[in-house]
Amino acid sequence: MDKLKIGIIMGGLSSEKEVSLNSGRNVHDNLDPEFYEGVPLFMDERGRLWILPWQLIPQNTTVDITEQLERQARPVTYEELRKEIDFAFISLHGKYGDDGCIQGLLELLGIPYTGPGVLASALGMDKHIQQMILREAGLDVPRSLMVRRAEWESDREGVLRRIREALPWPCVTKPTREGSSIGVTIIRDEASLDAGMIEALRWDNAVLVEEFLEGVEFSSIVLEEDGVIEPLGLTEIHPQSDFYTYDDKYMPGRCRKFTPPKTIPPEAVKRILEEVLRAFHALGFRSYGRIDGFYTTDGRILVTDPNSSSGMAPSSFFFEQAASAGMLPSMIISRLIENARKIHREKRGPL
Ligand SMILES: Nc1ncnc2c1ncn2[C@@H]1O[C@H](COP(=O)(O)OP(=O)(O)OP(=O)(O)O)[C@@H](O)[C@H]1O
Ligand SMILES: [Mg+2]
Repeated sequence: MDKLKIGIIMGGLSSEKEVSLNSGRNVHDNLDPEFYEGVPLFMDERGRLWILPWQLIPQNTTVDITEQLERQARPVTYEELRKEIDFAFISLHGKYGDDGCIQGLLELLGIPYTGPGVLASALGMDKHIQQMILREAGLDVPRSLMVRRAEWESDREGVLRRIREALPWPCVTKPTREGSSIGVTIIRDEASLDAGMIEALRWDNAVLVEEFLEGVEFSSIVLEEDGVIEPLGLTEIHPQSDFYTYDDKYMPGRCRKFTPPKTIPPEAVKRILEEVLRAFHALGFRSYGRIDGFYTTDGRILVTDPNSSSGMAPSSFFFEQAASAGMLPSMIISRLIENARKIHREKRGPL
């Protein structure tokens, strides 16, 4: 029997390319060799795809890989991709990765892939639009307002007035479309707003200013299987920094995570999982997703960050929750692939 060729797409154009590389190679190393042949596909900074020889996969950074592409890797045009792989495991994160761009390309090429479709992926990336949809669906989301670069640059006083009217201090500034906590700042007082806006505007042309939430953060992977959508688990997060920063997320030993939750009471866990599912449905997610939020000290449950993909390093929420449910990395990866193939077989038009 021919093995299914799984293209694992990693790297990419976004600020999260290094995170993506770590996700991708871990997926590659954990594919079940009985059924699948892994094709490691590196996307360079110009969006070109290369098939990596195995010797390049353990390289430390995407820069190290990029420098050796011409000599050691084989370029693949988009048109040829269909001949190289049967299925795409999207291990890209961030812009052009889990925001609908690569999904649209794969739709046109007729290649099935992991995760939500074009629209839901785009919604998963845009923190402003997703909040409008979640609010409309009756979920509790942080109070927020959106500030565009042009408005900030031409009318800083007006922006300040709008923030003062809408939110108390502290508040949080973040780029509307980013991940891995990139560009996020906790603003303790008015004097630090400038720094937060400048930081967020490094990454996008619009900033979301949010109410600061006090409480415990949670994260839940949700899986679709045979039409049934269910949370895989729930993890409670105890960051070491003021908030759950890039370093807390990826540096070994920085942050403690508890699956199942350690301090959130069972009654609240039940409600959180209901909210997580509601968010998944409201955004039209398919295949899988990761819904993050807060259980506040005053008992509110808020969805703050629905993600249409999830990091897949060994100690990621994805594999931690799979392990907690009794599944080896290879088992959960196989399930994700087979479920996604079924979803794509049954779709009418783009997912
Ligand atoms: N409204 C808020 N109140 C308090 N802390 C917040 C708030 N929004 C974000 N944070 C902190 O910043 C972190 C990153 O924010 P957020 O989850 O919105 O971004 P992200 O970059 O999309 O993260 P991910 O990598 O999980 O996709 C959160 O995990 C949390 O610690
Ligand atoms: Mg996110």
